[in-house]
Amino acid sequence: MNEPSQIITPGLSRRGFIRTTGGAVAGGALLGALAPERFAHAASGTDELKIALIGAGGRGSGAANQALSTYALGPVKLVAIADVHEDRMKGSLANLEKTHGARVDVPQERQFIGFDGFKKALETCDVAILATPPGFRPAQFEEAIRQGKHVFMEKPVAADAAGVRQVLAAAAEAKKKGLKVGVGLQRRHQAGYLETVKRLHEGAIGDITSMRCYWNGSRPWQKKRVDLEKQYGRKLTEMEYQLRNWYYFTWLSGDHIAEQHIHNIDVINWVKKGHPVKARAMGGREITNSPDDGEIYDHFACEFEYEDGSICYSYCRHQPGTWNSVSEHVQGTKGKSDVGGNKIFGDEQWRFKAEGAKDPYQQEHDDLFDAIRNNKDFNEAVSGAESTMTAILGRMAAYSGKELDWKAALDSKIELVPKELGWDKPTLVNPGPDGYYPKAVPGKTAVI
Ligand SMILES: NC(=O)c1ccc[n+]([C@@H]2O[C@H](COP(=O)([O-])OP(=O)(O)OC[C@H]3O[C@@H](n4cnc5c(N)ncnc54)[C@H](O)[C@@H]3O)[C@@H](O)[C@H]2O)c1
Repeated sequence: MNEPSQIITPGLSRRGFIRTTGGAVAGGALLGALAPERFAHAASGTDELKIALIGAGGRGSGAANQALSTYALGPVKLVAIADVHEDRMKGSLANLEKTHGARVDVPQERQFIGFDGFKKALETCDVAILATPPGFRPAQFEEAIRQGKHVFMEKPVAADAAGVRQVLAAAAEAKKKGLKVGVGLQRRHQAGYLETVKRLHEGAIGDITSMRCYWNGSRPWQKKRVDLEKQYGRKLTEMEYQLRNWYYFTWLSGDHIAEQHIHNIDVINWVKKGHPVKARAMGGREITNSPDDGEIYDHFACEFEYEDGSICYSYCRHQPGTWNSVSEHVQGTKGKSDVGGNKIFGDEQWRFKAEGAKDPYQQEHDDLFDAIRNNKDFNEAVSGAESTMTAILGRMAAYSGKELDWKAALDSKIELVPKELGWDKPTLVNPGPDGYYPKAVPGKTAVI
């Protein structure tokens, strides 16, 4: 099941973007009083926020569209794009230019192709959008914070524990520098979820004693090697193939428990105000088994145990024709809630009425840009990293077949992302002589 909002939507109405009246004015008044390193855009003497897009695929292009659509809060401009693939960059740029006209100013010299292009793109901007496959996120986030940039980064924020540690360290640095960080877990900006979780936190169903969440659907997009080689008229290097078909490699996507199911896991962590301390899990590949399925599993079933002893039962699968659900549910001592359905069955029955609620993909950008302009506290990197780590913990427990605790998993010394990146550089995961990739075998595979 693909996630929505990966395409550029036409410009939204000006009125729709105004969250607080006079926000930009208040921001302008504040800017003069703040040190330039805290507000990179203040150095230019205008309140224009320059944006760089790193990873100009479906979601990155959508996020750039949403960032540019915050113009009612103050001027914004897309000034640079970095991507490893020129075709992806050109397509994205053409679409954004069509939708946003002069708000897109990315001449040839600010189009950066290659694995290191993001560093140069970061130099040009105030706000970075990081939307490559997740494996690259920690290094790019670290560099963005080192350069003093505000960040919107997509979920998951890493593909392995080492990456999560890197993001947590950079998150602390961002806090020190007063930089704002948004993470693409948009349910946290969706009116129905916000109201439901608020009521749960206020005790609408008493203490929450058990939780369930699901991302059960079918396999998303897939790039077959044979089709890619036909399309490009040549053999691809292994690195190039894995990047084009990134979903199917754990070092790039984190596996689907991290890439998709993180949304539901994040809702549970949000409701529980923390992350689990332990996980037990099962998983495997039941029906997807071709070389183009790479190394990821097609199903996971996890128990996440929280500090108070409550357990979240989490399920995700890529199996067409099966029971299908993307949802979160919690049971309390005084009732229950369908959190994703925004319903509470407690002493009173309550359901959120959605009239006028804004697209959460737009809302998360409005919230971030409002925080940047008005110096509001806004750093989602830690909660984003914790939800990423929760999904990775479930994956590690399933791959290994062991019960794992949070700290041992977070301290794992196994790094999945190669240190050296380049089209001819070696990948750490490679197909065997039959073209199939090795997959994790519970009871045998080591994860820590
Ligand atoms: N929040 C959501 O609902 C949501 C929805 C979809 C995707 N996402 C997330 O967004 C991210 C991107 O997903 P997508 O669907 O846009 O994928 P995509 O394949 O469409 O885009 C990825 C882009 O990154 C580029 N890229 C790859 N490696 C790179 C590198 N090292 N440096 C620079 N560019 C690089 C690719 O060429 C491509 O243009 C993923 O983390 C995904 O989980 C989030």
